[in-house]
Amino acid sequence: MFKKLAVSAVTAVMLATGAFAAGEGGHVENIDFSFDGPFGTFDQNQLQRGLQIYTEICAACHGLQYVPLRTLGDEGGPELPEDQVRAYAEFYEVFDPELDDFRVASPNDHFPGSNLENAPDLSLMAKARAGFHGPYGLGINQLMNGIGGAEYIASLLQGYTGEEKEEAGTVLYENKTFPGGWIAMAPPLYGDDVEFADGHATDLHHLSEDVSAFLMWTAEPKLVARKQAGFVGVVFLTILSVLLYLTNKRIWAPVKARYKKK
Ligand code: HEC
Repeated sequence: MFKKLAVSAVTAVMLATGAFAAGEGGHVENIDFSFDGPFGTFDQNQLQRGLQIYTEICAACHGLQYVPLRTLGDEGGPELPEDQVRAYAEFYEVFDPELDDFRVASPNDHFPGSNLENAPDLSLMAKARAGFHGPYGLGINQLMNGIGGAEYIASLLQGYTGEEKEEAGTVLYENKTFPGGWIAMAPPLYGDDVEFADGHATDLHHLSEDVSAFLMWTAEPKLVARKQAGFVGVVFLTILSVLLYLTNKRIWAPVKARYKKK
């Protein structure tokens, strides 16, 4: 019995520390994002920068079809003021089945889908890639360092070696992070690809982290609320445990006292 328990404990620890979790892609380093850890929150300014990078560069090919435009104004997200959300939505055109035609988007619409057929939708990419390429796999480390999806995307954007080859009519670019090593996406960022109103750094490193943080938000917009609910739950259960312990002592106190006398 004890042996069995020990074996499962060891297995659990190994799983938690990611001994088995190595993905087939390149190694993905942990990045200290503001949303990591049990009390992490999104950095509103970083999300706004990421939105700008996404809009000016990634949206040329990729879509975010599961993300409602109005959520850009939500608390805990990029928190754009209402008029800016409306102005941003008007930037896009959506197909309206009722009109049977395209019209200017409103905040009630979603981001458009991908423009390029083989460019995947990015709404949930930060979570889709998490399990395979997380910095330390599942477990305790995820609690402290996040699930690793944002790290994977940041690392992917910085992982180009500059080599390319053509295969069956498609140009493939060598990338140290992409599983298999060759990706059909040309390097989308080189650094200085956008300009920020507040003059924030635009080197490749910062840009890829900002857009990855934004994609973490699109994949997990309620991350902060979920963490808060979890924390309240833990506090509640702790108080409940103490109360139950004290109640138990009290209920059995007369019985114990009787036995002591004898
Ligand atoms: C010129 C078009 C184009 C642009 C611009 C572009 N991508 Fe891509 N992207 C692609 C294509 C095509 C693929 C599919 C590659 C493949 O599967 O080999 C892809 C795949 C991806 C993937 C998935 C990789 C995986 O693990 O499957 C991510 C993440 C990604 N792009 C992020 C971005 C981000 C972030 C930007 C903006 C900074 C961006 N892309 C800009 C064309 C583009």
